[in-house]
Amino acid sequence: MTGNLIDINNVSKYYGTSAALKDVSFKVGQGEILAIAGPSGSGKTTLLNMISGLSKPTTGSISISSQDIGKLKPGKDLANLVGMIDQQYSIIPELNVINNVLAGNLGNWSLFKSLLSLIYPLERGKVFAILKDLGIEDKINNKAAHLSGGEQQRVSIARLLVQNPMVVLADEPVSSLDPARAEDIMQLIRSKLVNTNRSVIITLHNTRLIQEYCSRLIGIKEHSIVFDVSANEINESMLKELYK
Ligand SMILES: Nc1ncnc2c1ncn2[C@@H]1O[C@H](COP(=O)(O)OP(=O)(O)OP(=O)(O)O)[C@@H](O)[C@H]1O
Ligand SMILES: [Mg+2]
Repeated sequence: MTGNLIDINNVSKYYGTSAALKDVSFKVGQGEILAIAGPSGSGKTTLLNMISGLSKPTTGSISISSQDIGKLKPGKDLANLVGMIDQQYSIIPELNVINNVLAGNLGNWSLFKSLLSLIYPLERGKVFAILKDLGIEDKINNKAAHLSGGEQQRVSIARLLVQNPMVVLADEPVSSLDPARAEDIMQLIRSKLVNTNRSVIITLHNTRLIQEYCSRLIGIKEHSIVFDVSANEINESMLKELYK
């Protein structure tokens, strides 16, 4: 670990008068894979959405590499700092694989759409190399809709590798997957996305996957952090208590 990349400082989020997250503070170092766990409604997605810049804290601040995320508009600057894998691995089904991957170059969808006609062969070599590393280079011209679920996940990881943000967020990336595919995606995240300059934050419920793939676990309950431990300190009773 070479230093703190993410600094979450007394962050609260209120919807009207009801709290979605209350006074949360923590730092995340480069090279860390941080798991966030907690019961439904505890505030996990709310937290990730604020780290991604999608929503703003009601109070407190979030910085990545000393830049205040709450002050950045969607676009290149934000895309260089943070990227997200969502539960649906949102690929664009009607586009072919290369265009889905190249979307990682662009800060937002309207720009993406407007530039679509320009981007066809520009970085084909780069995309090919990334897809080859993920074992799906033969699909580069295929329509994304015709890929298997596992291949679509690889495309979404390839897009993130093109975007190359300093922080990668994944909201329940394995919760809709069978155990073999869950293992596969966690291995891909660890082997392709984690490096010494980047931090990864994943919401995960499975104790074994957390222990195996993550360096640290933060437990959230009733909108607040209840523990913050390294992976080797996790035990079943902590998680049982968290979900009780
Ligand atoms: N846009 C919104 N407007 C009002 N309330 C919201 C909004 N988004 C989230 N909430 C509330 O904030 C709380 C935290 O929601 P959040 O989605 O962060 O939970 P979560 O921990 O991700 O749950 P799950 O495990 O079910 O995904 C919930 O009570 C939710 O109803
Ligand atoms: Mg959620």
